[in-house]
Amino acid sequence: MTEPQLIDQYKRNLNYLRVSITDRCNLRCMYCVPRDQIPKLSHKDILRYEEILRIVRLGVSMGISKVRITGGEPLVRKGVYHFLEELSAIDGLQDVSLTTNGVFLKNNLKKIWSAGIRRINVSLDTLKRPKFANITGVDRFDQVWEGILDAECMGFSPLKINVVVLRDINTDELVEFARLSLTHPFHIRFIEHMPIGKSSVSERPVLAPEIKRIISRLGDLKPLPRTSRDGPAERYRFSGAAGEIGLIRPLSQHFCERCNRLRLTASGQLRPCLLSDQIEDLKTPLRKGLLDKDLREIFLKAVQHKPSQHHLVEDDREEPCSQMCAIGG
Ligand code: 5AD
Ligand code: SF4
Repeated sequence: MTEPQLIDQYKRNLNYLRVSITDRCNLRCMYCVPRDQIPKLSHKDILRYEEILRIVRLGVSMGISKVRITGGEPLVRKGVYHFLEELSAIDGLQDVSLTTNGVFLKNNLKKIWSAGIRRINVSLDTLKRPKFANITGVDRFDQVWEGILDAECMGFSPLKINVVVLRDINTDELVEFARLSLTHPFHIRFIEHMPIGKSSVSERPVLAPEIKRIISRLGDLKPLPRTSRDGPAERYRFSGAAGEIGLIRPLSQHFCERCNRLRLTASGQLRPCLLSDQIEDLKTPLRKGLLDKDLREIFLKAVQHKPSQHHLVEDDREEPCSQMCAIGG
């Protein structure tokens, strides 16, 4: 194990790097991208795979042990499966996972498996085909759902389904989602919607206690003990269920004091907090030919800027101007 060096001023050990490999996406989720499109990064502004791999290796040499690949939608980027293979082979990296909208999952599961990836999170906010088209702008529910079922068959585990809870849009389906955990080994994770960027969702957010009340109709929700490997989700299980329920509460009980994340954006910036626009550019120095030791300094600077917590729920909050799809969730 590498000696951890990425420890911030609040003594959090940042050992988890989320890497966005593209800001592009084949969906247009109503809460993620504004309907009137945002400009996309050009090819030269996006880190090349070898640049990402160099940054990850550097991170690993400083204590990063977990990497999650996100986007945009990571599976739309050309060459992604070969990249995933190279990433998984990095010495010292204990865990590589993938977050996807699932559209390209079904036909590429074998390649993802051969790249050594077993942990997949699929974003899915409805189980109804017409509503899927409404939320995402594209009629792709069937592909996503078949991809999830095939991934289950192949033995991907844990298979997490991320449901962003949207008032009056999918609150009527929370019980159906929760019911899936009874018979499938899925982790169904309900995420409080964060008001970020210029999305077209403005309803009052549905907070975790309300989500819990709604799904408790299904039975007794037993809390699961927290382990050191747990992410931000509060974990529960219905008795006898194959899978579990997670509540992700960025608004009602933020997990900032336990946050162990750093983010690398598609354009090569290190972002110590999703909800703050404090960033360190790695791409320019990297392309100028800086040595590893200088790039390490930039990592350390980003770590020192990690804020103690976000201010999303305060009245005078400053919203980050970046869009979620460019940061990678
Ligand atoms: N609030 C909460 N979750 C969001 N996601 C995207 N935008 C938001 C938001 N504004 C989720 C996606 C995906 C994960 C990476 O972040 O659905 O599952
Ligand atoms: Fe794409 Fe995910 Fe954003 Fe939906 S939430 S538009 S799937 S990046």
